[in-house]
Amino acid sequence: MCGIVGYIGPNEATPFLIEGLTKLEYRGYDSAGIAVFDGNRIKIEKSVGRLGILEKKIETHQPKGHIGIGHTRWATHGRPSDCNSHPHTDCSGKFVVVHNGIIENYLHLKEELLTKGHTFASETDTEVVAHLLEEHYDGNLESTVKKILTLIEGSYSLVFMSEDEPDKIICTKQDNPLVIGLGEGENFIASDIPAIISRTRKTYILSDGELAIVTKDSVWVMNRQGVPVTKKVFEVNWDAEAAEKGGYEHFMIKEIYEQPKAVRETMSSRLAKDDSSVLLDELKWNKHDLKAFKKIFIVACGTAYHAGVVGKYYIEKLARIPVEVDIASEFRYRSPLLDENNLTIVISQSGETSDTLAALKEAKRLGSRTLAVTNVVGSSIAREADNVIYTWAGPEIAVASTKAYTTQLVTMFMLAVYMADLKATVSPERSKELIKALRNLPGQLHEILEDVEPIKTFAQRYGFNEDVFFIGRSLDYAVALEGSLKLKEISYIHAEAYAAGELKHGTLALIIEGVPVIALATQSDVYEKTLSNIKEVKARDAVVIGLALKGDKQIEKYVDHTIYIPDTDQLLAPILAVIPLQLLAYYAAVTRGCDVDKPRNLAKSVTVE
Ligand code: F6R
Repeated sequence: MCGIVGYIGPNEATPFLIEGLTKLEYRGYDSAGIAVFDGNRIKIEKSVGRLGILEKKIETHQPKGHIGIGHTRWATHGRPSDCNSHPHTDCSGKFVVVHNGIIENYLHLKEELLTKGHTFASETDTEVVAHLLEEHYDGNLESTVKKILTLIEGSYSLVFMSEDEPDKIICTKQDNPLVIGLGEGENFIASDIPAIISRTRKTYILSDGELAIVTKDSVWVMNRQGVPVTKKVFEVNWDAEAAEKGGYEHFMIKEIYEQPKAVRETMSSRLAKDDSSVLLDELKWNKHDLKAFKKIFIVACGTAYHAGVVGKYYIEKLARIPVEVDIASEFRYRSPLLDENNLTIVISQSGETSDTLAALKEAKRLGSRTLAVTNVVGSSIAREADNVIYTWAGPEIAVASTKAYTTQLVTMFMLAVYMADLKATVSPERSKELIKALRNLPGQLHEILEDVEPIKTFAQRYGFNEDVFFIGRSLDYAVALEGSLKLKEISYIHAEAYAAGELKHGTLALIIEGVPVIALATQSDVYEKTLSNIKEVKARDAVVIGLALKGDKQIEKYVDHTIYIPDTDQLLAPILAVIPLQLLAYYAAVTRGCDVDKPRNLAKSVTVE
């Protein structure tokens, strides 16, 4: 998830490019760069770090010219560095490109280009696109772009400029956003509306597979076969702040809605095309490595810790390796018993949480092998661990973690299937069945997000209660932990999660008339037992909201309301079940007038112990 801008018109390009990137910095802040045609050559300025560093760098010598493109990066392929920053160029420096997304077949394309004599300056997937332009250029940028689009696979919004045709910018998109701002004698390109809203409110929103030729006086949109597409002008009527959130009221709800995409990106290049296996090329483990792991420790904080609790179920159930899950701040000080026969997995969205980083260092000191699951390329945790698996959730801005959690679950699930395959603890048939079910998740997440009205109503009805209980068994208990944390942290409602079977050992004393209990019942092997626990709280006149798989009619007899999620393999149910709980927390916080994105006393990346 990166930010893209472009300008063509009578004015200097650089001021707009910088201003536009400022508005898009929430899309990525690992590095920034611009390319401007100065009437003779394309000049590129780029720098690792925040946009401010680039601004400082060019303070005294801003690139001059009336056509340019810019980029703010959220690193995926290649760590944050000057040379991995966009824009990227080919060997001749005549073609420049900025990109948001992932070119899935870039390694294959790069190998081919290397054999043809191309040399690469970066580790990125994007640079391949610039070299493809050089390799296939036929004197016409438009037809060359069409040609290379038949060669690349993946998700992208791409913007191209060429020194030989400095009167146009070409852009296209697939699964990533791109808008064109329509001005008078000038036009703008951006990955999001906030970048252009101060210049124009008239836009074309590009659809997947469309290609636009943008000059200062015209915008031609066509499909990839060259058939013209008539676009409707979309008039932006949001204010500038709402625009940054893509029209959503808060970053949290925007990020909740980004989950289908985040999950798809996290898994898409890691599943074999025939669903036969999980491809975690970043690990390069073999069955002997796995035999050496006598026990696995998962260590993390907060929501990431809750992902670890689910991860324990996954690894133990599928790969049959014993797992202990630890809160990072506890792990470090409890003299953990680990050595070279262990693997320690740390999970961290930010990759900077100091408790988790300290735990990772302690695990290394004791001789354990280490693996980080993180969302931030080049973060301290990513650098410290022996191995890294990145979640491709894109930047998470809201303090309450949502899309990071679901992508962490997907990653832990893929890891467990990968280990199980190596250890042959699941049959190839079962493995395939699980991967197929995994592939269905983005569509199923989308289905849940299409109908949030009932959840909104519950939040409005029960949002003023002071206590809420979440109960569930097995994986449902793990999700209950996360549901209760979400509610606490953003709506300030006191919430507790209990293993449903544990209630009667004390907490049942708190269940009185009207107390809301959210009962998760998605796990078939403990379903009947969960129903018994639901009856226990119902008998004390609690108001029970059941969360069950679609098609489960039985639960309706025992609860006051039911929220359904699409039917799936019970191992994957947590990834769907958490969505209504995130939404419930969100709408409860809105109902209570809380500051959703910045809950009191909390910060996004906790770098103190
Ligand atoms: C809760 C939340 C926190 C984080 C925790 C760890 O919504 O976001 O509990 O999960 O602070 O942060 P990371 O994952 O960055 O290590």
